Amino acid sequence: MKRFRYFQPEDLSEAFNLMEEFQGKARYIAGGTDVLVRIRQKDLRPEALISLRRIEALDGIEVNGNLTIGGMVLLRDLERDEGIYSDYPALSQAVRVLANPQVRNVATIGGNLCNAAPSADCAPPLMVMEAELHLEGPSGRRTVPMGEFFKGPGETCLKPFEIMRSISIPPAPPRTGMAFKKIGRVTQDLAIVNAAALLVMEGSVCRTCRLAVGAVAPVPLRLGRVEQMIEGEEIGPELLREVEMMVREEVKPISDVRSSEEYRREVAGVLVRRTIGQALSGARGRRQGTSRKRPGASPGKEVKERDRVKAPESGAPESGFRRTVHFVLNGHEVAEEVESHKTLLDTLRSRFQLTGIKEGCGHGECGACTVLVDGKNVDSCLCPSFEVDGKSVTTVEGLIGEGNKLHPIQESFIANGGVQCGFCTPGMIMSAKALLDENEDPGDEEIRRAISGNLCRCTGYVQIVESIGRAAQEMKRTSGEEA
Ligand SMILES: Cc1cc2nc3c(=O)[nH]c(=O)nc-3n(C[C@H](O)[C@H](O)[C@H](O)COP(=O)(O)OP(=O)(O)OC[C@H]3O[C@@H](n4cnc5c(N)ncnc54)[C@H](O)[C@@H]3O)c2cc1C
Ligand code: FES
Ligand code: FES
Repeated sequence: MKRFRYFQPEDLSEAFNLMEEFQGKARYIAGGTDVLVRIRQKDLRPEALISLRRIEALDGIEVNGNLTIGGMVLLRDLERDEGIYSDYPALSQAVRVLANPQVRNVATIGGNLCNAAPSADCAPPLMVMEAELHLEGPSGRRTVPMGEFFKGPGETCLKPFEIMRSISIPPAPPRTGMAFKKIGRVTQDLAIVNAAALLVMEGSVCRTCRLAVGAVAPVPLRLGRVEQMIEGEEIGPELLREVEMMVREEVKPISDVRSSEEYRREVAGVLVRRTIGQALSGARGRRQGTSRKRPGASPGKEVKERDRVKAPESGAPESGFRRTVHFVLNGHEVAEEVESHKTLLDTLRSRFQLTGIKEGCGHGECGACTVLVDGKNVDSCLCPSFEVDGKSVTTVEGLIGEGNKLHPIQESFIANGGVQCGFCTPGMIMSAKALLDENEDPGDEEIRRAISGNLCRCTGYVQIVESIGRAAQEMKRTSGEEA
């Protein structure tokens, strides 16, 4: 990867000052799952990356009338938030099918929006929920309605140096139903088309209808004409057929590697119809939006901080080109001077000779480079080495016990034919480890979701899923015996 400097400011003003210093030649980085891929593809050549990860003002999920989500909240945390699951299901459904677990463990909601991809999965749900975006720059704060944020592919209304501080979503009235759906080439891939619907019902009549679609125009679209056709009506098969036809007229898709223009147009109508159907069931089935409290929440203001390990003082990184990072590697404290443009994958393989992890795609697609950072599986090819300062990193070598005893997951892969050429295996095993640390008895579906960011071109997935399932049984059995 081309050389760049890397800075980790602790607050917003430090971030703005750094941006000013680089006169437009620096870029903010959140999870890096878009920025680093584009740098690798030579599509971006910043002189410096300014990491937003240490800025506490961008963190946290807060319920205080509105739901407010910090720009740096991880997609993983949104996916697991019970309040979002129950009160804002369209957002929860979107995040669950966005990319793969390794990406969701580092990617942020702010990054998903500021990226400004027409297919950004968080955009349609936030549009139908009429979210507001809180932006802050050197000259102050402002608020922009979600519908006015996107200006074109890769373009937003963000002014130079501005940061998305948070996103706020108003409470949904009673009898609201909402839903998100997506069609991709495979599950958890970028959308060919995605869509969200929000309906407020009064008896059998739709009082409010909001619809949005993505990946069918230069920006995610609100479907105003279609909404008007539905409002004040009873939603039945006849109306839905008309909706489907009108959606096809409203969208302006293009053909690209993912799909043809014709397919996108056709499928947009079908997807919007199905999304309305699901939102309608939600509105009939539950009184969404009546409770602002999430299960287990204390009354009043509730803030959920994600894990944040305070990094030790590790030498001034003034140049931004190198620094000494201190971290725990496979149970041992280590300190290593690393270069700003080197990924964790580079550092682990070349400095620590931990060659179990592999470089497959280098783009977050294949999972061959998966390691655990603070217990979460991440793609080390998309992790800047500077970011592991103060954290704990585990590679497949770290699973081996005393007397070189293999871990039960490793044993199970061998015993159940989960390995052929072995290239994907260390990454598969690390994703399995992350799963079994959280869930000691996963079903096949949960195992498949957990390894959806790991590709295998040899064995097929049946033996791999079996290997993980049997490892879980074995681990449960031995922990039962020990107890
Ligand atoms: C394998 C793979 C699969 C993917 N699948 C999907 C998918 O299914 N759906 C989908 O929507 N996306 C997908 N993506 C794209 C990407 O992962 C997501 O858009 C992700 O949410 C980006 O978040 P990030 O924190 O990593 O952003 P980054 O890469 O860190 O940043 C993205 C852009 O936003 C800017 N930025 C980030 N945060 C802020 C902020 N708070 N204020 C101002 N500017 C900011 C950065 O400067 C940069 O220009 C995928 C990516 C990969 C690698
Ligand atoms: S995901 Fe990192 S090498 Fe493929
Ligand atoms: S065993 Fe060869 S790629 Fe999976």
